[in-house]
Amino acid sequence: MKIILTGSTGYVGKEVLKQCLLHPQLSSIIALSRRELDVTNPKLRVIIHSDFSHYSPEILAEVSSADACIYCLGTNVPVRPAELNRKINFEFALGTANTFSAAFIANKGQEQRTFKFVYLSGALTEKDENKKLWFLNENRKMRGELENALIKLGRDTKKGGFEVYLVRPGFVQPEGASVRNWVAGKLANSIMVHHLAASILRVARDGYREPLIENDKLNSWGKIAVDSVATRKL
Ligand SMILES: NC(=O)c1ccc[n+]([C@@H]2O[C@H](COP(=O)([O-])OP(=O)(O)OC[C@H]3O[C@@H](n4cnc5c(N)ncnc54)[C@H](OP(=O)(O)O)[C@@H]3O)[C@@H](O)[C@H]2O)c1
Repeated sequence: MKIILTGSTGYVGKEVLKQCLLHPQLSSIIALSRRELDVTNPKLRVIIHSDFSHYSPEILAEVSSADACIYCLGTNVPVRPAELNRKINFEFALGTANTFSAAFIANKGQEQRTFKFVYLSGALTEKDENKKLWFLNENRKMRGELENALIKLGRDTKKGGFEVYLVRPGFVQPEGASVRNWVAGKLANSIMVHHLAASILRVARDGYREPLIENDKLNSWGKIAVDSVATRKL
């Protein structure tokens, strides 16, 4: 299985990359990053890429032969000015999904292959533009708009084999979180980063019956995946 990964230098993307490299069913990972990674591996190819609104023929050729894209690029807080924020957190993601779907479908021809586009969203996304929010108003509504557009794209491209999924974790906790973090996580909607990464890999491999995947489902899949790896090691 071959995967394209964005955001591989980030908190979540780094863990996804680590698990991709350890995963026996994954033979090739193409990381699109604006800077070099601090990891090398025979399964990994890093392509230095900074403008995620345009893709070279070289990258599109990789997309055409890939099985999935895990999209972890994005910022937790709004970037300034607002136009740049929209470019990074909205246009890059939707543009990438549009471009990759066109490249995959054009190249696939009559083959029965599928491509899974997995977008790392967030639990606090707001789809109602008129609702008054007390924090992160701009990014939560923009993400709601993005989710709507990605779901529509997925509906339009599913017949062509291009499937779109949105994973919506809550607060992402580090592995081995402190007791304080652990208690906070129990009270809030949270997930451990290694559970999140494992569940994202599951979606990239198997898909799901619905495009939206919430924190509870991600938590249970992540725990099953991590436990089964631990059991295999015994
Ligand atoms: N962390 C959480 O608790 C949490 C919870 C729910 C949802 N999320 C969402 O998950 C996504 C990733 O979160 P994270 O915590 O992993 O963030 P992060 O640690 O800040 O990582 C962000 C990633 O995006 C890349 N990136 C950001 N701006 C870019 C740009 N202009 N051009 C190219 N690459 C760019 C970064 O690359 P560089 O290293 O080159 O900057 C990095 O790889 C975000 O959309 C966030 O909203 C996070």
